[in-house]
Amino acid sequence: MCGITGFIGDTDALSKIVRGLYRLEYRGYDSAGVALLEGDPADLAVYKSAGRVGDLEVPTVSDATCGIGHTRWSTHGKPTDENAHPHTDCTEHFAVVHNGVIANYDELRGDLETHEFTSQTDTEVVPHLLEEEYSETSDLRAAVESVTDRLEGSYALGVIAEESDRIVCARHNSPLVVGHGEDGNYIASDVTAFLDQTRDASYLLDGDVAVVSDDDVTVYADGEPVDRPIQHIEWDAQAAEKDGYQHFMRKEIHEQPWALRQVLASHVDTVDRTVDLDIDLDDDYLRNVDEIQLVACGTSYHASLYAKYLFQTLANVRTSVEVASEYEFEGGRDPTRTLVAGVTQSGETADTLDAVRRSAANGATTLGVTNSLGSTITRVVDDSIFIRAGPEIGVAATKTFSSQIATLVLLCLHVADVRGELDSADGRRLLENLRNLPSAIQQALDNESRIQAVADRYLDEDAFFYIGRRMGNPVSLEGALKLKEISYDHAEGFPAGELKHGPLALITEETPVIALLTDGSRPDDTITNVKEVQARGAPVIGLASEGTGNGTLEERIEVPSLGRLEPLVANVYLQLFAYHLADQKGRPIDKPRNLAKSVTVR
Ligand code: M6R
Repeated sequence: MCGITGFIGDTDALSKIVRGLYRLEYRGYDSAGVALLEGDPADLAVYKSAGRVGDLEVPTVSDATCGIGHTRWSTHGKPTDENAHPHTDCTEHFAVVHNGVIANYDELRGDLETHEFTSQTDTEVVPHLLEEEYSETSDLRAAVESVTDRLEGSYALGVIAEESDRIVCARHNSPLVVGHGEDGNYIASDVTAFLDQTRDASYLLDGDVAVVSDDDVTVYADGEPVDRPIQHIEWDAQAAEKDGYQHFMRKEIHEQPWALRQVLASHVDTVDRTVDLDIDLDDDYLRNVDEIQLVACGTSYHASLYAKYLFQTLANVRTSVEVASEYEFEGGRDPTRTLVAGVTQSGETADTLDAVRRSAANGATTLGVTNSLGSTITRVVDDSIFIRAGPEIGVAATKTFSSQIATLVLLCLHVADVRGELDSADGRRLLENLRNLPSAIQQALDNESRIQAVADRYLDEDAFFYIGRRMGNPVSLEGALKLKEISYDHAEGFPAGELKHGPLALITEETPVIALLTDGSRPDDTITNVKEVQARGAPVIGLASEGTGNGTLEERIEVPSLGRLEPLVANVYLQLFAYHLADQKGRPIDKPRNLAKSVTVR
C-alpha cells in the first residue's frame, strides 16, 4: 500500500529518490520521507513529515549517493511526522522503509523494552531489532536476515546503515523490484519509480534478501546467492505520465480504445479469429471443470459479475463470483474440478491473494487475471492471464475495468469452445462485438460534452441511484462506486427490480436515478422501474439502446449498438459523469481521500 524507493550509485541520490516518490504517490500519500547517507564518513540524515511528497522539506543539494524513500498509507498509527518512514533505531545508525504489516510487532516490542520508541508504527521494531542483531555480526545482510526470521506478516523492506555502502532489501508478501541503471542501482515497490532512469528490472521473490551496491546486485534465498533474471520493461515512463490531461483518470478513460485494442491484438488471431490466451491450463481440465469461481474486490468484482453472465450463458459452466474478503472454499464441491480465478488489476490486493491461496490449499486449480506482470498473484497461481491495459495511475479503476471484461470474454469464448458449448453464431457475434468495442467506446468518448452537460445540471444533488438488470447490474454498481469514490457524493447501485423492496423509500425529486436501458440489461423490464421512480418525482438519466426510452426520460443518452457489450459502453458514460461531477466540485480526482491504488492489507 505504501511506496518504497531507493538509489545507490555515483550521482546525486536525493533527486532520484524524490522523483521516484512522486511517481509512487498513488500507492500512498499521507506522509513521505527520505533517509540519506551524507558526508564522509557517512552520517545518516532523515527528512520526513506528514502530508504529500510536495510538503517534504529536503535540502536543495546533497552529496549523498545512497538513500531510501517512502510514501505512506497509514495502517498502524495516524499520519503524523513521527509515524512517517524512514524509521531509525535509538543510535540513529539504521534507517528502514517498509510496506506491509508486521503482525507480531506488539510481541517484538515486548522483547525490546530497553529501546525507546518514537512512533506507533509496526515498522519501528525493525530498526531496533537491527540495532541488536548488527551488534552481534557487524554484517548488514546477516542482521537483516536474522531480523526477517523473526517477523510475521508481510513486508518489503529497504535498509541503509552508516558505515555500509549498500542498500539491503527483503521481501515477503509485498512487492519489491531492483532496477539496474547505468549510474547506479535502484530499489522500489513498483518499477514506475525508476522507469525514467532504467527499464531493466529484476523482481524479488518471497524470502529473498538483496544486497544492492553502486555496481552490483546480489540476491540471496536461504542465505545462498540466487539468480533473479533481469527483465526489460517494454512500457516507458511517458506512459505513466498525464499526456496533457489534467488528471490521470480522464487520460485513462480516454485510453480505453487503445487498451482494448492491445487486449485484442495480444489474444485474437486477426486472420482466423481464434482466441489464444497464452495459458497452460489444459483442455481436458477445462472440459471437466464443474465450476468457475471468480474472486475479486471493488471494480474487479464488478468486472467479474459482468463476466459471470457470459460464462453461464455462453460456456454453460456454473460460475460464481465472490467478494474476496468474504471468500471461503465451501464444501460440497470437488476441488479438482473447481477453477478459482483471482481477478485483480494490481495483482497485489491482499484479500484476493488470500482467497486464492486458500482455494489452492484446498486443492483447487488457480488462475490470475491481472494487469501487472510480475505481480504477486502471478507467483501464487497455477497460471495467469495478463490484461495488458498499461499502467493505471488514477486510484479509480477505469480502463482496467473494460480490459478485464474483454479478457474474461475471451476466456469465456475459449472455455466454451473447449467444452463444445460454443454456438458458433453466438460466439462469432460476441467476438465481433468485442472487435467493435474500441470504436463504440470511441463514439461515447467523442460525445463527452453531452454527458459533461448532464453532470453540470445535477451538480447540486448529493445522492444518486443507479439501476440495471443482468449485465446492467454490475455496471450500475460500478457507476455508483466511481461516483462515490471520486466525488464523495452518496451513490448506490441496485438491481432495478430490488428498488421496490426498500430503496424506493429514499427516492425524491432530489435523487436523480441513472438507469441502464441497453441490450444485455433487460431494458423493457427496467422501464417499469423508471416509471416507479418518476412517479416519486425523481429525474431519470437513461443510457439507452437505439429505440429505447424515447420520450420517457429526463435525460436520454444513446449507447451505440453492441449487443451484450452495450452495458460496457454505457459504463464509459458513467465514468465520464463521475469524472466531470467530481472535477466541478474540485475534488482531488486521482487521489481521493482515504483510498489507495493498491490495497495490500487485509
Ligand atoms: O487491484 P485490484 O483490482 O485487486 O483492486 C481492487 C479494488 O481495490 C479496486 O478495484 C478499487 O475498488 C478501485 N479503487 C475502484 O475504482
